[in-house]
Amino acid sequence: MKVAIYPGSFDPVTYGHIDIIERAAKLFDKLIVLVLTNPVKPPTFSPNERVDFLKRSLSRQLSKVDNNIVIDEHSGLFIDYFKNCKANVIVKGLRVMSDFEYEFQMALINRDMFHEAETVFLTANVASMFLSSSAVKQIAMFGGDVSAYVSPKIVDDIKMKAKEFTARRVLEQK
Ligand code: PNS
Repeated sequence: MKVAIYPGSFDPVTYGHIDIIERAAKLFDKLIVLVLTNPVKPPTFSPNERVDFLKRSLSRQLSKVDNNIVIDEHSGLFIDYFKNCKANVIVKGLRVMSDFEYEFQMALINRDMFHEAETVFLTANVASMFLSSSAVKQIAMFGGDVSAYVSPKIVDDIKMKAKEFTARRVLEQK
């Protein structure tokens, strides 16, 4: 049985992530979508919120009889989780060349720490090439419409959190 893990911040999950998840789930027997923390980019949403957003955004896929997607969260090193669950493959999405440099380095460092950790890259679909969680958050913070980029099931939560975040920033600057 081939088990793949798609690790990421998912802060929040976008249609770009969902596309990679749906395609990767077809390639492997089981796909674990793993919410982690990138210390370089402190998250806006808590791990629980990010897991909940993933579950709600993927509710249709998760309710299928032949569903092979699992959502999980881990607060430590990714490679420790990978080893513990005896996974075979790491899945990552690539949008543009600038993603490649970072992802190439991550793939190498993960394989250096555990030689069996192979990374497979899936190219983003054209419609998601420009899409990022950071862009979604910025648009929401300035009152823009994010409904084309994330599931309708999480749009209101993102708007609410973005408003709270902006209000806090305004207070801090006073
Ligand atoms: O969606 P992102 O922000 O590109 O995901 C990056 C992530 C969360 C996969 C990466 O930062 C990560 O693996 N974090 C956990 C800590 C870790 O294992 N780092 C790798 C060694 S530098």
